[in-house]
Amino acid sequence: MSPTTIDLAEPLKALIARADSALARALPGDDVPPTELHRAMRYAVLGGGKRLRPLLVYAAAHAFGRHDELLDAPACAVEIIHAYSLVHDDLPAMDDDDLRRGRPTCHIVFGEAMAILAGDALQALAFEILATATPGEVNVPRLTMLKVLGTACGAEGMAGGQAFDLSAVGTTLTLQELERMHAYKTGALIRASVRLGALAAGCDDPAKLDALDRYAHAVGLAFQVRDDILDVEGDAAVIGKTAGKDAAADKPTFPSIIGMDASRAHLAELIDTALAALAPLGEAGDWLADLARYAVQRTH
Ligand code: IPE
Ligand code: IPE
Ligand code: MG
Ligand code: MG
Ligand code: MG
Repeated sequence: MSPTTIDLAEPLKALIARADSALARALPGDDVPPTELHRAMRYAVLGGGKRLRPLLVYAAAHAFGRHDELLDAPACAVEIIHAYSLVHDDLPAMDDDDLRRGRPTCHIVFGEAMAILAGDALQALAFEILATATPGEVNVPRLTMLKVLGTACGAEGMAGGQAFDLSAVGTTLTLQELERMHAYKTGALIRASVRLGALAAGCDDPAKLDALDRYAHAVGLAFQVRDDILDVEGDAAVIGKTAGKDAAADKPTFPSIIGMDASRAHLAELIDTALAALAPLGEAGDWLADLARYAVQRTH
């Protein structure tokens, strides 16, 4: 199957280009000292990636009728955190990967020390971007948004999930433990992306925020289950990273614990849960529904 088989709706495709150009503007120039660090940061963020997390920000805001440039800050912030997490995930001390987004990983090109610093600086930049007001904006709950992002990438989110992942090597997790690991390491930032989009769009309706959170929890889990399946059946030329790494590193994954067929069945359940959660939004949730389907059907 080619990577283009699963197509996103046209407006969402256009938003990938919008996210790309907002990211290129938000990152420090690679001719500004320290040039090597800035080059490593730009390398890690630009030139590849599906941009699912920025798309979730834009799609959640779309559900509340908001499309203006105010959304570019949270969209960039979540993608920059994600890019930092990939740089560190690929380090020799973690997954020790040399291929990412179809190119050599950041530490292969820039060395380990610079890759660690690039990750550190990207993390700080994400918060700086989110803390900076867009000219003319009113009533953006910026402190709440900073807290949402902080929780999502800290010990109770992505970093905690990575710790679960590393300590699970060579062990067998229960399904519940596996789901917790996935919910932390991947789900937390996906949930934050949806919530930040809704908050930036002015949504303060607890019932709607709760419905979006149920959607995002299911999509986040589904996204990592699909990642685990692609590690088994994907082709490096399509997924842009080395396949078979999870089994080689003896990582517990959905396929290793419940098998491929049950993993696929679980994906189908998760997508149903995600789509059902969107029901109260009606047609306004169409972009989010599209992204949920994409998360589970993607080939890379
Ligand atoms: C890969 O994320 C790592 C996981 C959290 C599963 P993506 O599949 O979103 O990677 P890019 O951004 O498209 O490269
Ligand atoms: C990575 O999970 C999740 C984060 C980076 C937080 P994986 O280790 O499965 O991601 P890939 O397969 O290397 O992209
Ligand atoms: Mg990993
Ligand atoms: Mg990895
Ligand atoms: Mg993986």
